Amino acid sequence: MCGIVGAIADRDVVPVLIDGLKRLEYRGYDSAGIALVDGSDVRRVRRTGRVSEMEAAAQAEGVRASLGIGHTRWATHGGVTEANAHPHISHGVALVHNGIIENHEQQRERLQQLGYAFESQTDTEVIAHLIHHYLKGGQDLLGALQCTVKELHGAYALAVISRKEPGRMVVARMGCPLLIGLGEGENFVASDVSAIVQYTRRVIFLEEGDTAEISREGVRVFGADDAPVQREEHLSDVSLASLELGPYRHFMQKEIHEQPRAIADTLEAIIDASAFEPALFGKDTDEVLAGVEGVQILACGTSFYAGSVARYWIEAISGLPCSVEIASEYRYRKAVANPKQLIVTISQSGETLDTMEALKYARSLGHDKTLSICNVPESAIPRASRLVFYTRAGAEIGVASTKAFTTQLVGLFALAATLAKLHGRLDADKEGEYIEALRHLPGSIQHALNLEPQIALWAERFAPRDHALFLGRGVHYPIALEGALKLKEISYIHAEAYPAGELKHGPLALVDAAMPVVVIAPNDSLLEKVKSNMQEVRARGGELFVFTDADSNFNESEGVHVIRTPRHVGVLSPIVHTIPVQLLAYHTALSRGTDVDKPRNLAKAVTVE
Ligand code: M6R
Repeated sequence: MCGIVGAIADRDVVPVLIDGLKRLEYRGYDSAGIALVDGSDVRRVRRTGRVSEMEAAAQAEGVRASLGIGHTRWATHGGVTEANAHPHISHGVALVHNGIIENHEQQRERLQQLGYAFESQTDTEVIAHLIHHYLKGGQDLLGALQCTVKELHGAYALAVISRKEPGRMVVARMGCPLLIGLGEGENFVASDVSAIVQYTRRVIFLEEGDTAEISREGVRVFGADDAPVQREEHLSDVSLASLELGPYRHFMQKEIHEQPRAIADTLEAIIDASAFEPALFGKDTDEVLAGVEGVQILACGTSFYAGSVARYWIEAISGLPCSVEIASEYRYRKAVANPKQLIVTISQSGETLDTMEALKYARSLGHDKTLSICNVPESAIPRASRLVFYTRAGAEIGVASTKAFTTQLVGLFALAATLAKLHGRLDADKEGEYIEALRHLPGSIQHALNLEPQIALWAERFAPRDHALFLGRGVHYPIALEGALKLKEISYIHAEAYPAGELKHGPLALVDAAMPVVVIAPNDSLLEKVKSNMQEVRARGGELFVFTDADSNFNESEGVHVIRTPRHVGVLSPIVHTIPVQLLAYHTALSRGTDVDKPRNLAKAVTVE
């Protein structure tokens, strides 16, 4: 969703801000803007639409400066208009804001009584006026920001500049990520490291309640009590190559093809140790995992489907009961807490608000055993969890999650096996068998990717359709759900997924010649059941598109199309069967000409409710 970048340097920072905003585009936004301290003035350029439109306007105006801030806005309070786009300005103070200010209406009324006029419908504008109010009262910029944030309820990452203080920028963080990039004689701020990684990899992650002052020469950070604090410097491992398209047409295509490498990287520690060691999940493992009696998984979207696969694995392999719940549902229900349950949150971004709030809610209920599976180091959700498994998928730019999902599955499989080992349910032979299967996984994924030309041909038949049905059973049912989500989110074809056994309890009524039915049907113990369900579809004139594996002995026949992955990979089969449904969605969207990487109405990191 919204993105922040800021810079203070000896050079012109306008290209730095525009490049940074372009790298934040993947998060989803509908307007963009920059503000610059230019001499004793603040200049601002804002546009609805793409960053490139704002860039053209900035070039036309010929703006240049050595201090500036930029923003991509995803509208929440107030429509998509230039007046609502950030930065917002109050008497020479300009700021950009990620997050939501919950008490903005009370603050607006108060500021109006103090004589402030409002130009936008946003919650953000109150912050600019409040800072000005405190500046007028005699505070300097940092002091004014520190006074202001104490009056805000809600979540914010803020970057602020003032025409009266051309030598510094001040920033604050609560509930939304914000980091400082350390350069040589120049410094940066960003909500996401990708915005500044081409200038520096040295970063400081601000903590909740921190404020900071950033000049060319250095950075000073203050804790929630305004006292100076030291925050550790990190070296980001986000690579520039992961942010570039290279030879691919879309980031989604690139990220689908990166899966063999992403999975190999994620597996590295397991393969090196040739064992499922509790240490895979962090330092406190012995204490947190000791006495675990069950697992509660919380997540949203694709991450929820990864959790849904994990439920089958955890119960079957470790024997522990496991529930999976959509984070936005869990956080608002009166859940019965069992402190011996392990709470597992799954999130690619580590920023998803509902997942974060579900974790906080679980903790408020007395859950102390928390583990996060996440792809973004130092993001909010892993920081709030006692144990962490970082997937090593690299930056995922396409809104449709692909390599994050399959690497999450790898982490979750390792969790199932580790819990089994700790509970005495994994003997050395079985452990060796699982490790061997994981060792071969990147190769099996590559074989599945080689099916792309056949899947692209199927996609041409899907492109003109309005609806599609996905079926699976057992551990492959969540893969059907994931396939339907991928298809709907990027091709805009209405797609639903059902456990194949449910067909005759309702959805069979939808089946006719116009409804393609995708079936995930590997050679497992449920295959014969799935075959019966497929007969039910054929008998109603439905056309079947079956993804199966070489061992399953499926033959094509009239109305039954079959694509086979080269071999059955046993317990890891859901991971391999994810690849064909990703490719089907991608090529269908391509045929329909949709904006594959930035589908309408969606954002990469969902940081609002
Ligand atoms: O970053 P997260 O994994 O927490 O994101 C959760 C969902 O928003 C995300 O998986 C979403 O469903 C994707 N667009 C699906 O492709």
